[in-house]
Amino acid sequence: TYVIAQPCVDVKDRSCIDECPVDCIYEGRRALYIHPDECVDCGACEPVCPVEAIFFEADLPAHWQDYRQSAVHFFEAA
Ligand code: SF4
Ligand code: F3S
Repeated sequence: TYVIAQPCVDVKDRSCIDECPVDCIYEGRRALYIHPDECVDCGACEPVCPVEAIFFEADLPAHWQDYRQSAVHFFEAA
């Protein structure tokens, strides 16, 4: 899965939504979240984010590892 990290917080550019072929990017209060079970790893969203908030999970910087779990919690609570 791909993961949206800290740069999206309070920015929410939303360009990523238009690129996703399976519509698995959902809006939260302060950031957007990629549904980890619905993402097909196409990579289309990553280059369009103007603040480079989107990463393939294996490439997520160490200091933003928490964002993977944040997405899981977001969809569990939904
Ligand atoms: Fe959607 Fe593809 Fe991005 Fe996954 S990698 S969130 S399927 S655009
Ligand atoms: Fe956020 Fe970037 Fe998408 S700022 S809403 S991850 S285009």
